[in-house]
Amino acid sequence: MTDTHAFPAGFTWGAATSAYQVEGSPLADGAGPSIWHRFSHTPGRVRDGDTGDLACDHYRRFKEDVALMRDLGLKAYRFSVSWSRVFPEGRGRINPAGLSFYERLVDELLKHDIEPFLTLYHWDLPAALDDLGGWLNPSIADWFADYTETMVRALDGRVRKWTTLNEPWVVIDGGYLFGVLAPGHANLYEAPIAAHHLMRAHGAAVRRYRSVGKHEIGLVVNIEPKYPASQSPADLAAVRRANAYMNQWYLDPAFLKRYPPEMREVFGDAWREDWPAEDFDLIGEKIDFLGLNYYTRSVTQADPTVRPLGFRSVHQPQSQYTDTGWEVFPQGLTDTIHQIRTRYGDLPLYITENGCALPEPTSVDVDVFEDPRRVDYLQTHLAAVARAIQEGANVQGYFAWSLLDNFEWAHGYSKRFGLVHCDHQSQRRTWKRSAKLYQQVIATNGRNVLAAR
Ligand code: BGC
Repeated sequence: MTDTHAFPAGFTWGAATSAYQVEGSPLADGAGPSIWHRFSHTPGRVRDGDTGDLACDHYRRFKEDVALMRDLGLKAYRFSVSWSRVFPEGRGRINPAGLSFYERLVDELLKHDIEPFLTLYHWDLPAALDDLGGWLNPSIADWFADYTETMVRALDGRVRKWTTLNEPWVVIDGGYLFGVLAPGHANLYEAPIAAHHLMRAHGAAVRRYRSVGKHEIGLVVNIEPKYPASQSPADLAAVRRANAYMNQWYLDPAFLKRYPPEMREVFGDAWREDWPAEDFDLIGEKIDFLGLNYYTRSVTQADPTVRPLGFRSVHQPQSQYTDTGWEVFPQGLTDTIHQIRTRYGDLPLYITENGCALPEPTSVDVDVFEDPRRVDYLQTHLAAVARAIQEGANVQGYFAWSLLDNFEWAHGYSKRFGLVHCDHQSQRRTWKRSAKLYQQVIATNGRNVLAAR
């Protein structure tokens, strides 16, 4: 590659986190418990009994963390709001102290010219709403829209980029189908219902945003492109099902106002086809941009013994794998960007998460921690974004996952994704080499990204 100017002027360079993963102090100042608070306090649910009680202590150290972002040169910071800090019971009574935390965070970001990208839901549903059925209760679309309106009225003057849901697929796959994430249900019949109301809630929030907000609102999905393990009809059919299940279940209704037909093959008689047409008008409310989270691909093979999906991923012996067992495959990011554009049209895209977990010590005593594999991951994936842009894609920003090592859900603190190391005992932050690289990338607007490969 010779073109070293792949990233457009004004490209948004950011890093991402989410509330439960970094904040700590989950019940402080009148906040209500979330499903993740309950889940992590249930023995056996999270590795080593880890909880988000302290996490990165960001709730108390946010100013220090914003200073870190400023030193990195971040142009934007993607974070999420904990719904139950603002509405301890999920609806009704507002907790002003909870809302004020996000106002102070946003003000601190703006003070340093860092643009806030606010996610309304990153998996930490108020426990009180789970008691009412959570995403299975059709009323949740109204509850979510009311919460959205409160946040927009408070912050739309200062926040110009909003997103409704982070990764609806994970909410349902982990939370309702397999039960490895909160609220821990494992029920084939519930999953399609919860998914539908989750997307109705997304649509209701977008619709409400149009009546009270003046800026932009989008959706964030995780995409894992599927490549067939062979050209056999069984594997090709498995790839179609895998794509429908993981990559199209939420985007098809959001853009095409229908579910992918393969969903019936995946769910059998648990699949529902009796939803009213107006639900799809709601889910299909126009969004301003789409956020893509990309980590890995799957080489997919048919396997009828895997229930209910009927497929599995095949290990690639020539590839590198990260600490979460995910194959490193940068070309998949370029492919994903193009596939999204082909199927759903040319709306602005942001890479809202990308990164890797590597085995790293819990505490370090150096000025800069060397993480050569993350440096390589970052460079090759940024080059993959640059190629997509050169080939015509409308990618407007990139957010590294994550700013800090944090609470990696059911893995607890055992998986480290940070550009900056976090010692969860001492709360000391230590730059990794990848953070230094990213600082340079941002300072040069990625000018050296392609040249480096
Ligand atoms: C989520 C993050 C998570 C990351 C790494 C994404 O699925 O949005 O919360 O930490 O991937 O697993």
